[in-house]
Amino acid sequence: MTDWLEYYRITSNRAPRDTLLQCLKLFKKEGEPNNKSAIDLGFGSGNDTLELLNNNWNVLAVDSEENASKFLLSRISNSHQEKLQIITSGFENVTYPKSSLINASYSLPFCKSENFKDFWSKLIESLVPGGRICGQLFGIEDQWNKENRENTTFLSLEEFNKLFKGLELEFFKEVKEDGKTASGIDKFWHIFHFVAKKRSEEINQI
Ligand SMILES: C[S@@+](CC[C@H](N)C(=O)[O-])C[C@H]1O[C@@H](n2cnc3c(N)ncnc32)[C@H](O)[C@@H]1O
Repeated sequence: MTDWLEYYRITSNRAPRDTLLQCLKLFKKEGEPNNKSAIDLGFGSGNDTLELLNNNWNVLAVDSEENASKFLLSRISNSHQEKLQIITSGFENVTYPKSSLINASYSLPFCKSENFKDFWSKLIESLVPGGRICGQLFGIEDQWNKENRENTTFLSLEEFNKLFKGLELEFFKEVKEDGKTASGIDKFWHIFHFVAKKRSEEINQI
């Protein structure tokens, strides 16, 4: 069982995730959408949500932990408030509005594997054409997979590639390395970092 509150305390002074920064850069380069509506899935201590708000995006921030909401609310200014909606719920259970950006930094792997494909399809459906999704997924060589960690999704590279059929993968990096968890525990990580763009109305067929 993860102690998310400890995680929020440890991570709250970190920079926004690189995948989000790359995604924002791509939007700026090609012209931002008129409707700057973003979803931040599993926002945690809120570093990425704040980055989105500071870049003038309207953000629907979803996290199952009440503490995440408290943490984020303690960090935002009055001017941010009207641009932010927080939902405290399992992200699989939310009905999402059409959005231009879905940010999922280190959160999608915590979807139960039996729900993952349906959830992914739902997310891609909610992206407008030209919209982007960015974040991380875990690979099957990840140490937590070997430890049979519950309620977590691990993907082979083949499975990962299938998910992105119908999307343009603009950034991809597969990392396999020894490292540490946020609380300093040794761990072997197998991570897919991604930024992808929805090309058309074509719905991802898995
Ligand atoms: C590893 S943290 C990532 C936090 C932040 N996005 C970051 O990059 O540091 C995962 C977050 O996802 C949330 N989470 C895990 N499973 C979830 C689910 N099924 N629905 C909604 N949020 C979930 C946790 O509460 C936690 O805040």
